[in-house]
Amino acid sequence: MSEFTAGTHENGAPRPSDAHSLSVGSNGPLLLHDVALVEKLARFDRERIPERSPHAKGSGAFGEFEVTEDVSKFTKAGFLQKGAKTPMMARFSTVAGEQGSPDTWRDVRGFALKFYTDQGNFDMVGNNTPVFFVRDPMKFPDFIHSQKRTPDSGLRSGNMQWDFWTLVPESAHQVSYVMGPRGLPRSWREMNGYSSHTYLWVNEAGEKFWVVYHWLSEQGVHNMTNEEATELAGTDAEYHRRDLFDAINRGDFPSWRLEVQVMPYDEAKDYRFNPFDLTKVWSKKDYPRIPVGRFTLNQNPSNHFAEIEQAAFSPSNTVPGTGVSPDKMLLARVFSYPDAQRNRLGTNFNQLPVNAPKVATNSYDKEGAMQFHHSGAAPVYSPNSYSRPYADEQGTSETGWEADGEMVRAAYTLHAEDDDFGQAHTLVREVYTEEERQELVKTVVGSLTDVEEPVLSRVFDYWTKIDAEVGANIEAAYRAGAEEQVPGNDPVDVDA
Ligand code: HEM
Repeated sequence: MSEFTAGTHENGAPRPSDAHSLSVGSNGPLLLHDVALVEKLARFDRERIPERSPHAKGSGAFGEFEVTEDVSKFTKAGFLQKGAKTPMMARFSTVAGEQGSPDTWRDVRGFALKFYTDQGNFDMVGNNTPVFFVRDPMKFPDFIHSQKRTPDSGLRSGNMQWDFWTLVPESAHQVSYVMGPRGLPRSWREMNGYSSHTYLWVNEAGEKFWVVYHWLSEQGVHNMTNEEATELAGTDAEYHRRDLFDAINRGDFPSWRLEVQVMPYDEAKDYRFNPFDLTKVWSKKDYPRIPVGRFTLNQNPSNHFAEIEQAAFSPSNTVPGTGVSPDKMLLARVFSYPDAQRNRLGTNFNQLPVNAPKVATNSYDKEGAMQFHHSGAAPVYSPNSYSRPYADEQGTSETGWEADGEMVRAAYTLHAEDDDFGQAHTLVREVYTEEERQELVKTVVGSLTDVEEPVLSRVFDYWTKIDAEVGANIEAAYRAGAEEQVPGNDPVDVDA
Protein backbone atom coordinates (compact mmCIF):
# COMPACT_ATOMS: atom_id res chain seq x y z
CA MET A 1 0.00 0.00 0.00
CA SER A 2 3.00 2.33 0.42
CA GLU A 3 2.80 3.54 -3.20
CA PHE A 4 -0.30 5.56 -2.28
CA THR A 5 -0.01 9.27 -1.48
CA ALA A 6 -2.38 11.09 0.86
CA GLY A 7 -5.93 11.24 -0.53
CA THR A 8 -6.32 13.36 -3.65
CA HIS A 9 -9.01 14.61 -5.96
CA GLU A 10 -8.94 13.05 -9.40
CA ASN A 11 -6.89 16.00 -10.64
CA GLY A 12 -4.20 15.06 -8.14
CA ALA A 13 -4.73 17.92 -5.71
CA PRO A 14 -5.10 17.05 -1.99
CA ARG A 15 -8.59 16.01 -0.83
CA PRO A 16 -9.75 18.06 2.11
CA SER A 17 -11.67 15.19 3.75
CA ASP A 18 -13.02 11.69 3.29
CA ALA A 19 -15.25 12.02 6.32
CA HIS A 20 -17.13 15.31 6.18
CA SER A 21 -19.15 17.08 3.49
CA LEU A 22 -18.88 20.85 3.12
CA SER A 23 -21.93 22.45 4.73
CA VAL A 24 -23.15 25.89 5.76
CA GLY A 25 -22.64 25.57 9.48
CA SER A 26 -22.25 22.13 11.03
CA ASN A 27 -25.98 21.39 10.63
CA GLY A 28 -26.48 23.36 7.44
CA PRO A 29 -27.22 22.49 3.78
CA LEU A 30 -24.57 21.09 1.45
CA LEU A 31 -22.72 22.96 -1.26
CA LEU A 32 -22.54 22.10 -4.96
CA HIS A 33 -18.94 23.20 -5.21
CA ASP A 34 -17.79 20.58 -2.69
CA VAL A 35 -15.63 18.79 -5.25
CA ALA A 36 -14.70 16.13 -2.69
CA LEU A 37 -18.33 15.07 -2.24
CA VAL A 38 -19.60 15.67 -5.78
CA GLU A 39 -16.73 13.77 -7.39
CA LYS A 40 -17.13 10.90 -4.92
CA LEU A 41 -20.88 10.54 -5.51
CA ALA A 42 -20.69 11.06 -9.27
CA ARG A 43 -18.09 8.32 -9.58
CA PHE A 44 -20.07 6.03 -7.29
CA ASP A 45 -23.15 6.59 -9.47
CA ARG A 46 -21.20 5.27 -12.47
CA GLU A 47 -19.40 2.29 -10.93
CA ARG A 48 -21.44 -0.39 -12.67
CA ILE A 49 -20.82 -1.21 -16.30
CA PRO A 50 -23.15 -3.52 -18.23
CA GLU A 51 -22.52 -7.10 -17.25
CA ARG A 52 -21.75 -9.61 -19.99
CA SER A 53 -25.00 -10.51 -21.69
CA PRO A 54 -24.45 -14.24 -21.24
CA HIS A 55 -21.69 -15.49 -18.88
CA ALA A 56 -22.08 -12.55 -16.47
CA LYS A 57 -20.95 -14.42 -13.33
CA GLY A 58 -17.41 -15.66 -13.26
CA SER A 59 -13.85 -15.16 -12.22
CA GLY A 60 -10.38 -16.09 -13.32
CA ALA A 61 -6.65 -15.99 -12.87
CA PHE A 62 -3.34 -15.63 -14.70
CA GLY A 63 -0.69 -18.18 -15.56
CA GLU A 64 1.55 -19.69 -18.16
CA PHE A 65 1.09 -22.06 -21.10
CA GLU A 66 3.96 -24.33 -22.07
CA VAL A 67 4.17 -26.49 -25.18
CA THR A 68 5.74 -29.86 -24.39
CA GLU A 69 5.22 -31.70 -27.72
CA ASP A 70 6.14 -31.03 -31.33
CA VAL A 71 3.01 -30.19 -33.36
CA SER A 72 4.86 -28.12 -35.97
CA LYS A 73 3.66 -30.46 -38.72
CA PHE A 74 0.13 -29.11 -38.06
CA THR A 75 0.68 -25.44 -37.20
CA LYS A 76 3.34 -22.80 -37.54
CA ALA A 77 1.88 -20.64 -34.74
CA GLY A 78 4.83 -19.48 -32.65
CA PHE A 79 3.15 -20.03 -29.31
CA LEU A 80 2.37 -23.66 -30.28
CA GLN A 81 5.99 -24.63 -31.00
CA LYS A 82 7.68 -27.09 -28.64
CA GLY A 83 9.29 -25.32 -25.68
CA ALA A 84 7.35 -22.05 -26.12
CA LYS A 85 6.10 -20.47 -22.90
CA THR A 86 3.33 -17.89 -23.12
CA PRO A 87 1.70 -15.75 -20.42
CA MET A 88 -2.05 -16.27 -20.37
CA MET A 89 -5.24 -15.78 -18.41
CA ALA A 90 -8.43 -17.80 -17.89
CA ARG A 91 -11.96 -16.83 -16.95
CA PHE A 92 -14.57 -19.38 -15.87
CA SER A 93 -18.27 -18.57 -15.71
CA THR A 94 -21.88 -19.71 -15.66
CA VAL A 95 -23.96 -18.87 -18.74
CA ALA A 96 -27.43 -17.79 -17.68
CA GLY A 97 -27.12 -16.30 -14.20
CA GLU A 98 -26.49 -12.64 -13.51
CA GLN A 99 -23.49 -11.20 -11.64
CA GLY A 100 -24.83 -12.08 -8.18
CA SER A 101 -26.20 -15.51 -9.06
CA PRO A 102 -24.93 -18.61 -7.23
CA ASP A 103 -21.95 -20.37 -8.77
CA THR A 104 -23.59 -23.76 -8.21
CA TRP A 105 -26.79 -23.36 -10.25
CA ARG A 106 -26.94 -26.12 -12.86
CA ASP A 107 -25.56 -24.73 -16.12
CA VAL A 108 -22.85 -25.06 -18.72
CA ARG A 109 -19.59 -23.43 -17.54
CA GLY A 110 -17.61 -20.99 -19.67
CA PHE A 111 -13.90 -21.70 -20.16
CA ALA A 112 -12.29 -18.64 -21.75
CA LEU A 113 -8.54 -18.36 -22.34
CA LYS A 114 -6.36 -15.51 -23.56
CA PHE A 115 -2.74 -16.09 -24.61
CA TYR A 116 -0.49 -13.02 -24.86
CA THR A 117 1.68 -14.42 -27.68
CA ASP A 118 4.62 -12.84 -29.52
CA GLN A 119 2.38 -12.66 -32.60
CA GLY A 120 -0.59 -10.99 -30.90
CA ASN A 121 -3.33 -12.24 -28.62
CA PHE A 122 -4.88 -15.65 -29.24
CA ASP A 123 -8.16 -16.39 -27.45
CA MET A 124 -10.05 -19.63 -27.07
CA VAL A 125 -13.52 -18.97 -25.73
CA GLY A 126 -14.93 -22.40 -24.95
CA ASN A 127 -17.11 -24.26 -22.46
CA ASN A 128 -16.84 -27.30 -20.18
CA THR A 129 -18.85 -29.28 -22.74
CA PRO A 130 -17.71 -30.21 -26.25
CA VAL A 131 -20.96 -29.24 -28.03
CA PHE A 132 -23.61 -26.53 -27.96
CA PHE A 133 -27.41 -26.11 -27.93
CA VAL A 134 -27.89 -24.71 -31.46
CA ARG A 135 -26.04 -24.86 -34.74
CA ASP A 136 -27.17 -21.63 -36.41
CA PRO A 137 -26.31 -18.26 -34.83
CA MET A 138 -29.76 -16.91 -35.75
CA LYS A 139 -31.06 -19.02 -32.85
CA PHE A 140 -28.50 -17.92 -30.24
CA PRO A 141 -30.24 -14.83 -28.81
CA ASP A 142 -33.52 -16.80 -28.59
CA PHE A 143 -31.75 -19.60 -26.78
CA ILE A 144 -30.23 -17.19 -24.24
CA HIS A 145 -33.58 -15.39 -23.75
CA SER A 146 -35.19 -18.76 -22.95
CA GLN A 147 -32.61 -19.40 -20.19
CA LYS A 148 -32.87 -15.97 -18.58
CA ARG A 149 -36.08 -14.49 -17.10
CA THR A 150 -39.70 -14.24 -18.22
CA PRO A 151 -40.87 -10.81 -19.32
CA ASP A 152 -43.72 -10.55 -16.80
CA SER A 153 -42.57 -12.12 -13.52
CA GLY A 154 -38.84 -11.62 -13.98
CA LEU A 155 -38.46 -15.24 -12.84
CA ARG A 156 -36.48 -18.01 -14.46
CA SER A 157 -38.77 -20.60 -15.92
CA GLY A 158 -38.42 -24.32 -16.56
CA ASN A 159 -41.41 -24.06 -18.87
CA MET A 160 -39.62 -21.49 -21.03
CA GLN A 161 -36.39 -23.50 -21.11
CA TRP A 162 -38.09 -26.76 -22.06
CA ASP A 163 -40.36 -24.97 -24.55
CA PHE A 164 -37.29 -23.75 -26.45
CA TRP A 165 -35.27 -26.96 -26.13
CA THR A 166 -38.08 -29.26 -27.25
CA LEU A 167 -38.92 -27.02 -30.22
CA VAL A 168 -35.22 -27.03 -31.22
CA PRO A 169 -34.25 -30.74 -31.12
CA GLU A 170 -30.65 -30.03 -32.19
CA SER A 171 -30.28 -29.03 -28.50
CA ALA A 172 -30.58 -32.70 -27.39
CA HIS A 173 -26.86 -33.46 -27.17
CA GLN A 174 -25.97 -30.39 -25.11
CA VAL A 175 -29.09 -30.74 -22.93
CA SER A 176 -27.96 -34.32 -22.19
CA TYR A 177 -24.65 -32.87 -21.00
CA VAL A 178 -26.14 -30.10 -18.87
CA MET A 179 -28.74 -32.39 -17.22
CA GLY A 180 -25.93 -34.89 -16.52
CA PRO A 181 -22.99 -34.70 -14.10
CA ARG A 182 -21.15 -31.90 -15.93
CA GLY A 183 -24.01 -29.48 -15.24
CA LEU A 184 -22.68 -29.24 -11.66
CA PRO A 185 -18.85 -29.19 -11.58
CA ARG A 186 -17.43 -29.44 -8.03
CA SER A 187 -15.04 -26.63 -8.83
CA TRP A 188 -13.73 -24.83 -11.89
CA ARG A 189 -10.41 -26.53 -11.21
CA GLU A 190 -12.04 -29.92 -11.65
CA MET A 191 -13.63 -29.46 -15.05
CA ASN A 192 -12.35 -29.83 -18.60
CA GLY A 193 -12.59 -27.14 -21.24
CA TYR A 194 -13.30 -27.55 -24.94
CA SER A 195 -13.11 -25.26 -27.94
CA SER A 196 -16.29 -27.10 -28.97
CA HIS A 197 -15.93 -25.56 -32.43
CA THR A 198 -13.61 -26.85 -35.09
CA TYR A 199 -10.80 -24.40 -35.88
CA LEU A 200 -8.12 -24.32 -38.58
CA TRP A 201 -4.36 -24.79 -38.26
CA VAL A 202 -1.84 -24.06 -41.02
CA ASN A 203 1.75 -25.30 -41.04
CA GLU A 204 4.87 -23.66 -42.45
CA ALA A 205 4.32 -25.38 -45.83
CA GLY A 206 0.80 -23.93 -46.06
CA GLU A 207 -0.94 -27.28 -45.37
CA LYS A 208 -4.23 -26.95 -43.52
CA PHE A 209 -5.77 -29.09 -40.77
CA TRP A 210 -9.05 -28.91 -38.85
CA VAL A 211 -8.54 -28.95 -35.10
CA VAL A 212 -10.59 -29.23 -31.90
CA TYR A 213 -8.97 -28.18 -28.60
CA HIS A 214 -9.48 -30.21 -25.40
CA TRP A 215 -8.19 -28.78 -22.09
CA LEU A 216 -8.10 -31.68 -19.64
CA SER A 217 -8.07 -30.89 -15.94
CA GLU A 218 -5.01 -32.30 -14.15
CA GLN A 219 -7.07 -32.14 -10.95
CA GLY A 220 -9.42 -34.72 -12.52
CA VAL A 221 -13.09 -34.17 -13.36
CA HIS A 222 -15.35 -34.13 -10.29
CA ASN A 223 -18.93 -32.97 -9.98
CA MET A 224 -21.43 -32.39 -7.17
CA THR A 225 -24.91 -33.67 -6.47
CA ASN A 226 -28.10 -31.62 -6.80
CA GLU A 227 -28.39 -31.58 -3.01
CA GLU A 228 -24.85 -30.26 -2.50
CA ALA A 229 -25.31 -27.63 -5.20
CA THR A 230 -28.62 -26.43 -3.79
CA GLU A 231 -27.22 -26.13 -0.30
CA LEU A 232 -24.14 -24.23 -1.49
CA ALA A 233 -26.30 -21.86 -3.55
CA GLY A 234 -27.78 -20.75 -0.23
CA THR A 235 -24.72 -20.87 1.99
CA ASP A 236 -21.90 -19.74 -0.33
CA ALA A 237 -23.04 -18.24 -3.64
CA GLU A 238 -19.38 -17.57 -4.55
CA TYR A 239 -18.25 -21.14 -3.90
CA HIS A 240 -16.39 -21.62 -7.21
CA ARG A 241 -14.86 -18.15 -7.24
CA ARG A 242 -13.62 -18.67 -3.69
CA ASP A 243 -12.26 -22.15 -4.42
CA LEU A 244 -10.06 -20.92 -7.27
CA PHE A 245 -8.83 -17.82 -5.43
CA ASP A 246 -8.04 -19.77 -2.24
CA ALA A 247 -6.27 -22.58 -4.12
CA ILE A 248 -3.97 -20.13 -5.94
CA ASN A 249 -3.36 -18.16 -2.73
CA ARG A 250 -2.15 -21.27 -0.94
CA GLY A 251 0.12 -22.23 -3.85
CA ASP A 252 -2.05 -25.11 -5.05
CA PHE A 253 -1.86 -24.09 -8.71
CA PRO A 254 -4.38 -25.79 -11.00
CA SER A 255 -3.29 -26.97 -14.44
CA TRP A 256 -4.85 -28.26 -17.63
CA ARG A 257 -3.31 -30.38 -20.39
CA LEU A 258 -3.95 -29.37 -23.98
CA GLU A 259 -4.75 -32.22 -26.33
CA VAL A 260 -6.10 -31.73 -29.84
CA GLN A 261 -8.04 -33.76 -32.35
CA VAL A 262 -6.65 -33.08 -35.80
CA MET A 263 -8.44 -33.84 -39.07
CA PRO A 264 -6.64 -33.54 -42.41
CA TYR A 265 -8.25 -30.74 -44.40
CA ASP A 266 -9.75 -32.94 -47.15
CA GLU A 267 -11.41 -35.41 -44.78
CA ALA A 268 -13.98 -32.87 -43.57
CA LYS A 269 -16.10 -33.19 -46.70
CA ASP A 270 -16.94 -36.86 -46.23
CA TYR A 271 -16.57 -37.39 -42.50
CA ARG A 272 -19.58 -39.29 -41.12
CA PHE A 273 -20.58 -36.28 -39.01
CA ASN A 274 -20.45 -32.71 -40.25
CA PRO A 275 -17.27 -31.57 -38.46
CA PHE A 276 -18.49 -27.95 -38.46
CA ASP A 277 -21.80 -28.74 -36.78
CA LEU A 278 -21.39 -27.51 -33.19
CA THR A 279 -23.93 -30.03 -31.85
CA LYS A 280 -21.59 -32.92 -32.77
CA VAL A 281 -18.29 -34.30 -31.52
CA TRP A 282 -15.72 -36.14 -33.62
CA SER A 283 -15.23 -39.73 -32.54
CA LYS A 284 -11.97 -40.16 -30.60
CA LYS A 285 -11.55 -43.52 -32.36
CA ASP A 286 -11.49 -41.71 -35.70
CA TYR A 287 -9.35 -38.81 -34.45
CA PRO A 288 -7.46 -39.69 -31.25
CA ARG A 289 -6.34 -36.85 -29.03
CA ILE A 290 -2.77 -35.66 -29.55
CA PRO A 291 -0.94 -34.06 -26.59
CA VAL A 292 0.39 -30.52 -27.03
CA GLY A 293 1.19 -28.90 -23.67
CA ARG A 294 -0.27 -27.54 -20.46
CA PHE A 295 -1.21 -24.32 -18.75
CA THR A 296 -0.97 -23.56 -15.06
CA LEU A 297 -2.78 -20.78 -13.23
CA ASN A 298 -0.45 -19.32 -10.61
CA GLN A 299 -1.52 -15.71 -10.04
CA ASN A 300 -4.74 -14.27 -8.72
CA PRO A 301 -6.11 -10.98 -10.00
CA SER A 302 -5.01 -8.05 -7.89
CA ASN A 303 -8.12 -6.15 -8.93
CA HIS A 304 -11.19 -8.14 -9.98
CA PHE A 305 -12.82 -5.29 -11.91
CA ALA A 306 -9.79 -4.23 -13.93
CA GLU A 307 -8.47 -7.71 -14.64
CA ILE A 308 -11.52 -9.97 -14.82
CA GLU A 309 -14.63 -7.84 -15.34
CA GLN A 310 -12.92 -5.75 -18.02
CA ALA A 311 -11.31 -8.75 -19.72
CA ALA A 312 -12.59 -9.15 -23.27
CA PHE A 313 -12.25 -12.57 -24.90
CA SER A 314 -13.12 -13.24 -28.53
CA PRO A 315 -12.84 -16.07 -31.06
CA SER A 316 -11.80 -13.33 -33.51
CA ASN A 317 -8.42 -13.16 -31.77
CA THR A 318 -6.36 -15.57 -33.88
CA VAL A 319 -2.63 -15.46 -34.74
CA PRO A 320 -0.71 -16.66 -37.82
CA GLY A 321 -0.96 -20.45 -38.10
CA THR A 322 -4.47 -20.50 -36.55
CA GLY A 323 -7.86 -19.59 -37.98
CA VAL A 324 -11.58 -20.17 -37.83
CA SER A 325 -13.66 -22.71 -39.76
CA PRO A 326 -16.93 -22.71 -41.74
CA ASP A 327 -18.90 -23.40 -38.49
CA LYS A 328 -21.68 -20.80 -38.83
CA MET A 329 -21.83 -20.31 -35.05
CA LEU A 330 -18.14 -19.53 -34.91
CA LEU A 331 -18.31 -17.12 -37.83
CA ALA A 332 -21.07 -15.17 -36.07
CA ARG A 333 -19.15 -15.17 -32.79
CA VAL A 334 -16.22 -13.52 -34.57
CA PHE A 335 -18.51 -10.50 -35.03
CA SER A 336 -20.53 -10.68 -31.83
CA TYR A 337 -17.81 -10.59 -29.13
CA PRO A 338 -15.91 -7.42 -30.10
CA ASP A 339 -19.29 -5.82 -30.83
CA ALA A 340 -20.54 -6.69 -27.32
CA GLN A 341 -17.27 -5.41 -25.85
CA ARG A 342 -17.49 -2.07 -27.69
CA ASN A 343 -20.85 -1.69 -25.98
CA ARG A 344 -19.87 -3.15 -22.59
CA LEU A 345 -16.40 -1.60 -22.20
CA GLY A 346 -16.12 1.08 -24.87
CA THR A 347 -14.60 1.40 -28.33
CA ASN A 348 -11.04 1.26 -27.09
CA PHE A 349 -11.45 -1.83 -24.88
CA ASN A 350 -8.36 -3.40 -26.47
CA GLN A 351 -6.23 -0.65 -24.93
CA LEU A 352 -7.09 -1.73 -21.37
CA PRO A 353 -4.04 -3.40 -19.80
CA VAL A 354 -5.71 -6.82 -19.45
CA ASN A 355 -6.68 -6.86 -23.12
CA ALA A 356 -3.71 -5.08 -24.68
CA PRO A 357 -1.43 -7.35 -26.72
CA LYS A 358 2.14 -7.58 -25.44
CA VAL A 359 3.39 -6.73 -28.94
CA ALA A 360 3.37 -3.32 -30.61
CA THR A 361 0.22 -2.58 -32.62
CA ASN A 362 -0.19 -0.39 -35.69
CA SER A 363 -3.69 -0.03 -37.10
CA TYR A 364 -5.42 2.85 -38.81
CA ASP A 365 -8.40 2.69 -36.44
CA LYS A 366 -8.42 5.88 -34.44
CA GLU A 367 -10.07 8.03 -31.78
CA GLY A 368 -13.32 7.06 -30.02
CA ALA A 369 -14.13 7.40 -26.34
CA MET A 370 -11.20 6.89 -23.98
CA GLN A 371 -8.53 6.51 -26.63
CA PHE A 372 -5.25 6.18 -24.79
CA HIS A 373 -2.69 4.85 -27.27
CA HIS A 374 -2.47 6.84 -30.47
CA SER A 375 -0.21 7.32 -33.46
CA GLY A 376 0.89 10.86 -32.62
CA ALA A 377 1.38 12.98 -35.73
CA ALA A 378 1.88 9.99 -38.05
CA PRO A 379 -0.39 9.66 -41.10
CA VAL A 380 -3.87 8.34 -40.21
CA TYR A 381 -4.53 6.80 -43.64
CA SER A 382 -3.10 3.99 -45.71
CA PRO A 383 -1.47 3.90 -48.13
CA ASN A 384 0.73 6.89 -47.29
CA SER A 385 4.04 8.30 -48.48
CA TYR A 386 5.36 9.16 -45.02
CA SER A 387 6.86 5.84 -43.93
CA ARG A 388 4.09 4.72 -41.57
CA PRO A 389 3.86 0.99 -42.39
CA TYR A 390 0.61 -0.43 -43.70
CA ALA A 391 -0.54 -3.93 -44.63
CA ASP A 392 0.43 -5.52 -47.93
CA GLU A 393 -1.95 -4.56 -50.77
CA GLN A 394 -2.00 -8.15 -52.00
CA GLY A 395 -3.36 -9.40 -48.68
CA THR A 396 -3.08 -12.86 -47.17
CA SER A 397 -5.79 -15.48 -46.71
CA GLU A 398 -3.82 -18.54 -45.72
CA THR A 399 -6.47 -19.61 -43.21
CA GLY A 400 -9.28 -19.58 -45.77
CA TRP A 401 -11.27 -22.40 -47.35
CA GLU A 402 -13.14 -22.74 -50.62
CA ALA A 403 -16.82 -21.71 -50.66
CA ASP A 404 -19.33 -21.65 -53.47
CA GLY A 405 -23.07 -21.69 -54.07
CA GLU A 406 -26.29 -19.67 -54.21
CA MET A 407 -27.12 -17.36 -51.32
CA VAL A 408 -29.63 -19.28 -49.20
CA ARG A 409 -31.08 -19.51 -45.71
CA ALA A 410 -30.79 -23.23 -45.08
CA ALA A 411 -29.67 -25.94 -42.69
CA TYR A 412 -26.29 -27.61 -43.22
CA THR A 413 -26.35 -30.43 -45.77
CA LEU A 414 -26.38 -33.70 -43.86
CA HIS A 415 -23.39 -36.02 -43.58
CA ALA A 416 -23.95 -39.81 -43.44
CA GLU A 417 -24.66 -40.09 -39.69
CA ASP A 418 -26.00 -36.61 -38.93
CA ASP A 419 -29.19 -36.35 -36.91
CA ASP A 420 -30.30 -34.58 -33.73
CA PHE A 421 -30.50 -37.49 -31.29
CA GLY A 422 -27.83 -40.08 -32.20
CA GLN A 423 -24.87 -38.59 -30.34
CA ALA A 424 -27.11 -37.60 -27.40
CA HIS A 425 -28.16 -41.26 -27.17
CA THR A 426 -24.54 -42.43 -27.20
CA LEU A 427 -23.73 -40.02 -24.36
CA VAL A 428 -26.66 -41.04 -22.19
CA ARG A 429 -26.51 -44.79 -22.90
CA GLU A 430 -22.81 -45.53 -23.43
CA VAL A 431 -20.90 -42.82 -21.55
CA TYR A 432 -23.08 -42.30 -18.45
CA THR A 433 -23.16 -45.03 -15.80
CA GLU A 434 -26.47 -46.49 -14.61
CA GLU A 435 -26.22 -44.31 -11.50
CA GLU A 436 -25.62 -41.18 -13.59
CA ARG A 437 -28.63 -42.06 -15.77
CA GLN A 438 -30.82 -42.37 -12.68
CA GLU A 439 -29.53 -39.01 -11.40
CA LEU A 440 -30.28 -37.47 -14.79
CA VAL A 441 -33.88 -38.73 -14.59
CA LYS A 442 -34.22 -37.10 -11.15
CA THR A 443 -32.67 -33.87 -12.37
CA VAL A 444 -34.98 -33.62 -15.38
CA VAL A 445 -38.07 -34.44 -13.32
CA GLY A 446 -36.98 -31.84 -10.75
CA SER A 447 -36.81 -29.22 -13.49
CA LEU A 448 -40.39 -29.84 -14.61
CA THR A 449 -42.25 -28.34 -11.65
CA ASP A 450 -43.60 -25.34 -13.60
CA VAL A 451 -43.80 -27.04 -17.01
CA GLU A 452 -47.27 -27.10 -18.57
CA GLU A 453 -48.86 -28.70 -21.62
CA PRO A 454 -48.08 -28.88 -24.49
CA VAL A 455 -44.46 -28.45 -23.42
CA LEU A 456 -44.65 -31.29 -20.90
CA SER A 457 -45.64 -33.94 -23.46
CA ARG A 458 -42.91 -32.72 -25.77
CA VAL A 459 -40.35 -33.17 -22.93
CA PHE A 460 -41.30 -36.87 -22.60
CA ASP A 461 -41.16 -37.29 -26.38
CA TYR A 462 -37.77 -35.50 -26.58
CA TRP A 463 -36.20 -37.77 -23.96
CA THR A 464 -37.76 -40.86 -25.50
CA LYS A 465 -36.06 -39.95 -28.77
CA ILE A 466 -32.74 -39.56 -26.91
CA ASP A 467 -33.19 -42.87 -25.05
CA ALA A 468 -36.44 -44.87 -24.85
CA GLU A 469 -35.80 -46.17 -21.32
CA VAL A 470 -34.72 -42.80 -19.92
CA GLY A 471 -37.74 -41.15 -21.57
CA ALA A 472 -40.11 -43.70 -20.03
CA ASN A 473 -38.45 -43.34 -16.61
CA ILE A 474 -38.76 -39.56 -16.72
CA GLU A 475 -42.46 -39.75 -17.58
CA ALA A 476 -43.14 -42.43 -14.94
CA ALA A 477 -41.26 -40.55 -12.21
CA TYR A 478 -42.99 -37.30 -13.13
CA ARG A 479 -46.47 -38.91 -13.09
CA ALA A 480 -45.76 -40.65 -9.77
CA GLY A 481 -44.64 -37.32 -8.27
CA ALA A 482 -47.62 -35.45 -9.70
CA GLU A 483 -50.02 -38.03 -8.24
CA GLU A 484 -48.48 -37.62 -4.79
CA GLN A 485 -49.20 -33.92 -4.99
CA VAL A 486 -52.97 -34.33 -5.65
CA PRO A 487 -54.53 -32.91 -2.42
CA GLY A 488 -56.92 -35.86 -1.84
CA ASN A 489 -53.99 -38.26 -1.91
CA ASP A 490 -52.09 -36.43 0.77
CA PRO A 491 -52.37 -38.34 4.05
CA VAL A 492 -51.56 -35.27 6.18
CA ASP A 493 -54.18 -33.09 4.49
CA VAL A 494 -56.53 -33.27 7.49
CA ASP A 495 -58.72 -30.42 6.25
CA ALA A 496 -59.50 -32.04 2.90
C1 HEM B 1 -19.69 -14.67 -23.70
C2 HEM B 1 -22.21 -14.29 -27.81
C3 HEM B 1 -21.80 -19.06 -28.54
C4 HEM B 1 -18.75 -19.31 -24.81
C5 HEM B 1 -20.44 -14.17 -24.74
C6 HEM B 1 -20.79 -12.78 -24.91
C7 HEM B 1 -21.48 -12.67 -26.06
C8 HEM B 1 -21.60 -13.99 -26.63
C9 HEM B 1 -22.04 -11.41 -26.68
C10 HEM B 1 -20.38 -11.65 -23.97
C11 HEM B 1 -19.04 -11.12 -24.40
C12 HEM B 1 -18.57 -9.97 -23.57
O1 HEM B 1 -19.38 -9.11 -23.21
O2 HEM B 1 -17.35 -9.90 -23.30
C13 HEM B 1 -22.30 -15.54 -28.39
C14 HEM B 1 -22.92 -15.84 -29.67
C15 HEM B 1 -22.82 -17.19 -29.85
C16 HEM B 1 -22.13 -17.72 -28.70
C17 HEM B 1 -23.55 -14.80 -30.58
C18 HEM B 1 -23.29 -18.05 -30.99
C19 HEM B 1 -23.64 -17.60 -32.16
C20 HEM B 1 -20.90 -19.52 -27.63
C21 HEM B 1 -20.31 -20.84 -27.65
C22 HEM B 1 -19.44 -20.91 -26.61
C23 HEM B 1 -19.49 -19.64 -25.92
C24 HEM B 1 -20.62 -21.90 -28.69
C25 HEM B 1 -18.55 -22.02 -26.18
C26 HEM B 1 -18.10 -22.95 -27.00
C27 HEM B 1 -18.75 -18.08 -24.20
C28 HEM B 1 -17.97 -17.77 -23.02
C29 HEM B 1 -18.24 -16.44 -22.70
C30 HEM B 1 -19.19 -15.95 -23.68
C31 HEM B 1 -17.04 -18.72 -22.27
C32 HEM B 1 -17.65 -15.66 -21.53
C33 HEM B 1 -16.30 -15.13 -21.92
C34 HEM B 1 -15.67 -14.42 -20.74
O3 HEM B 1 -15.32 -15.13 -19.77
O4 HEM B 1 -15.54 -13.20 -20.77
N1 HEM B 1 -20.97 -14.90 -25.78
N2 HEM B 1 -21.83 -16.70 -27.83
N3 HEM B 1 -20.39 -18.82 -26.55
N4 HEM B 1 -19.47 -16.97 -24.56
FE1 HEM B 1 -20.65 -16.84 -26.18
